[in-house]
Amino acid sequence: MKNISLFFDIEEAEKELKTLSKKIKKANEEYFLKDAPSLTDSEYDSLKKRALKIEEQFPELIRKYGISKNVGAKVKSGFKKITHATPMISLDNIFSLEAFSDFIQRLRKNLQQDVFPTIIAEPKLDGIGFSARYEKGKLIHVATRGDGKIGEDITENMKTIPEFKMSLQTDLDVLELRGEVYLNKKDFFEMNQKLTEKGKKIFSNPRNAAAGSLRQLDSKITATRPLKFAVYTWGEVSPRPWKTQTEFFDFAKHLKLPINLFTICKNEKDIENVYHKLEENRATFPCDIDGIVYKVNEIALQEQLGMTARAPRWAIAHKFPAEHAQTQLKNIRIQVGRTGVLTPVADLEPVNIGGVLVSHATLHNADEIARKDIRIGDTLLVERSGDVIPK
Ligand code: IVH
Repeated sequence: MKNISLFFDIEEAEKELKTLSKKIKKANEEYFLKDAPSLTDSEYDSLKKRALKIEEQFPELIRKYGISKNVGAKVKSGFKKITHATPMISLDNIFSLEAFSDFIQRLRKNLQQDVFPTIIAEPKLDGIGFSARYEKGKLIHVATRGDGKIGEDITENMKTIPEFKMSLQTDLDVLELRGEVYLNKKDFFEMNQKLTEKGKKIFSNPRNAAAGSLRQLDSKITATRPLKFAVYTWGEVSPRPWKTQTEFFDFAKHLKLPINLFTICKNEKDIENVYHKLEENRATFPCDIDGIVYKVNEIALQEQLGMTARAPRWAIAHKFPAEHAQTQLKNIRIQVGRTGVLTPVADLEPVNIGGVLVSHATLHNADEIARKDIRIGDTLLVERSGDVIPK
């Protein structure tokens, strides 16, 4: 680090300010966005001190770099940490219907009951989890899951989602609603298209796009992203007016909140039916789902079952098989759409992806082919998500 010396030449000053500004920006991102700072506090402080000194000497540079204007705002808009009142737990995974039978058998043994407990099956939404705390119906804050114990304060960003509410028609002392923020696949493609047109970096899938859009320091950017959310569980609630998962959904629906889809299952046949139905319709489902979550409906039974060290014993996630595979690119051709739009299409060596034989993939646009350097004869990693996109 140089000593604080003054410049006689604005060009020389600007050159250094430009470098400093890049370093400060990178340090801010590492600190606030990635939680992984590469600079010590004092290194960061001396970078800023130097930049401010230059701007002080050449105020005409403030408009372009604005270190002296931005610093305070950046610090303020960095995510605060929020400790969850009750931890945001994760679920154990299973990969087959046989494993579900084992799960149910374990449940019945634990509960010492012969009857099949009512199970609620819900799509496992592939987005980013959130927890929204209301006191006497007034929004207090919204946090990401983080490590399950401590999350990031995303209140301002969440407020930009049209269906989200700052106040609810309820006088419960505490109500923590939890769910998923996600993007519909159609909106994701349109959003990437817009980012491409502006020469900006695109997101690789709707989940990353949802997380990246929600975890913006500037909520004005979040506001431009077509985010959606659905509620599927709760954290701290007092007093709790519902006794089952389905009553919870009724309660949330009554508050005009978007709730996750659910099916009531009374036996294993119902479970099988839901699984096959969702798995088959997965590609045409509006948003990405990566499995099904099964939950014991009765909270009294949930409490009886309790938790293991990692996850509840009363719920489990049934993950779908992976939706990607490798194959060879045979040809690239241009398809003319109904409205005259030209789309490059890849002819592929047919490959089975999650039970569907795939022989074509859309390449979206020529820029993308060039950017990904896709050539005939290449081996591609193909991902199915309604549309088929090669990676
Ligand atoms: S319930 C104990 N329901 O999956 C209840 N979670 O692997 C905990 N997720 O962290 C969550 N869809 O972010 C629940 N319908 C759903 C879900 C769901 C997606 C996520 C959630 C959770 C993770 C667990």
